[in-house]
Amino acid sequence: MVPIIAGNWKMNKDVTESRALVQELLGLVSDTKDRIIIVIPPFTSLSHVSEIIHNTRVKLGAQNMHWARSGAFTGEISGLFLKNIGCEYVVIGHSERRHIMGENDETINKKLKTALDIGLISIFCVGETGEERDKGQTEEVILRQLNKGLEGIENEVHKIILAYEPVWAIGTGKTASPQQAAQIHQFIRSQLRKNTAILYGGSVKPENVDILMAEKDIDGVLVGGASLKPESFARIIRFSTP
Ligand code: PGA
Repeated sequence: MVPIIAGNWKMNKDVTESRALVQELLGLVSDTKDRIIIVIPPFTSLSHVSEIIHNTRVKLGAQNMHWARSGAFTGEISGLFLKNIGCEYVVIGHSERRHIMGENDETINKKLKTALDIGLISIFCVGETGEERDKGQTEEVILRQLNKGLEGIENEVHKIILAYEPVWAIGTGKTASPQQAAQIHQFIRSQLRKNTAILYGGSVKPENVDILMAEKDIDGVLVGGASLKPESFARIIRFSTP
């Protein structure tokens, strides 16, 4: 499986900053082969970044979309609009959307179905909170997120990318150990009807990417904070395993 390195910029980088970031990144990674590189800027920057990465190895993703194709949904964005400006990927069910914006398994399921229908590749995020882990509920929570999120599309999971993002590791500097992550990746894989890529996310940085990527069940990484600086994201893209 070709490793997938995705950078989620979250609500950072205006258009000017986005253009500069991606331009610098291209200069640093243009010779990198055998990696799928995805940048995931905020909506306002997507079309600008799309023009810059056209005909390069860097691919475009969005951070969210609505489940309907169009209609009276003020403030929402259709997946069709994303495709139209060159997005190939869309993050669905990120923990910040679940925990801050109130998304639930049912709406996430609708979004995954629509993305499949219109031909966008979802990066479907699952993961437990620190409290759930402390209570020994990690597998139960992930199983619920997988079962409800993938309801009705279980046989198409090979067209979706999974991301295991323990909430306690996101933006906290606390990374899951490679063993902890690999254990959950194996659990997730054992629950899927078909094989697909499973990314790890949560405080991935240049200092820990090599040991994480050395785990055979970790097929790539979803990077937040460390994707906002071209040098650190380029180093992550250039990870090397022993
Ligand atoms: P982080 O974010 O790398 O800043 O922890 C990861 C994510 O939320 O995808």
